Amino acid sequence: ETIEKGGYDHFMLKEIFEQPRSIADSMRGRLRADDAHLQLGGLRNYLDKLADSKRIVIVGCGTSWHAGLVAEYLFEELARINVEVEYASEFRYRNPVIKEKDIVIAISQSGETADTLAAIELAKSKGALIFGVCNVVGSSIARATDAGAYTHAGPEIGVASTKAFTAQVTVLTLMAIEAAQRKGTISEELYRQLLIELETIPAKVERVLQTAEKIKEIAFIFTYARNFIYLGRGLNFPVALEGALKLKEISYIHAEGYPAAEMKHGPIALIDEDMPVVFLATKDSSYEKIVSNIQEVKARKGRVIAIITEGDTLIPTMVDFVIEIPKTHEMLTPLVSVIPLQLLSYYIAVMRGRNVDQPRNLAKSVTVE
Ligand code: G6P
Repeated sequence: ETIEKGGYDHFMLKEIFEQPRSIADSMRGRLRADDAHLQLGGLRNYLDKLADSKRIVIVGCGTSWHAGLVAEYLFEELARINVEVEYASEFRYRNPVIKEKDIVIAISQSGETADTLAAIELAKSKGALIFGVCNVVGSSIARATDAGAYTHAGPEIGVASTKAFTAQVTVLTLMAIEAAQRKGTISEELYRQLLIELETIPAKVERVLQTAEKIKEIAFIFTYARNFIYLGRGLNFPVALEGALKLKEISYIHAEGYPAAEMKHGPIALIDEDMPVVFLATKDSSYEKIVSNIQEVKARKGRVIAIITEGDTLIPTMVDFVIEIPKTHEMLTPLVSVIPLQLLSYYIAVMRGRNVDQPRNLAKSVTVE
């Protein structure tokens, strides 16, 4: 087992550090930025249908559902397709409306999650075309779908999903860009720019991983926190949810992810000097708004850890701790901004002596209802 962990203390840490490679693997053979080439073999015959779809319904559970929320922003912003993201467990027990030209995308690392599989069967019975985004080749979900794109992240052993999430987001990004290009909703220039930027993501993730020691120091300070709030806007909102989920899963600290602007409708009541708040505060279209959300938390003495874009000189003057990440195209931010959150929860859980790879009450793959 020590050999399998490749010198890391836990599978989860190994998998976090594998991400520059797993993200590259999920793009391998599919993307060549120099000649603006993008190809998704498994969806080859279906991409026109994707571009032509009236609505995409994404189903998944847990971390895969969070990847779906990221995809919602991408498909809507780039391809102008209406998207709904559903918990598979809710979708399957409703009588969902599926119309002609609707496409269902099922996201699942294991490809065996019972609720997701049942959601697919239901969508099928209503005549939907179903795509899968799975990691495990030949899995039940991969077999139940009409077409799909594997994430190629390699085996994920740690129960808390890390590299599978970034691989899912990568593949969904490729799908959204491809649909947008076919539909003509993005310019040739933006298309090229996104492909070029995607190729730089593994190196940017690597740079975040190099800040692990600093993240460990912050984790040490917050090891015994009893609650955490994670806030983000836009594409960083699902990242906030994912950061909170990671912390809950492995450290057993109660954590909530929220859209930063919703804070005033509830979570702000929780803020005092004992409440750590993690802000996803990268320099993007909602930067100014996030800055004022940070001020609102600081005014109530919350302790703020901010994930910021390298070179930001304003936020470091306002908050308690910052973790810098390299700048990327706004549409690709989640691939980079989730990394420090994975490391933060990992180190907090280790410092609390938790069984990081096999947290209590959780299973890697939930094959029962
Ligand atoms: C379990 C795992 C999570 C995972 C979820 C969905 O809860 O512990 O890490 O995100 O199932 O699994 P799937 O294999 O469908 O992505």
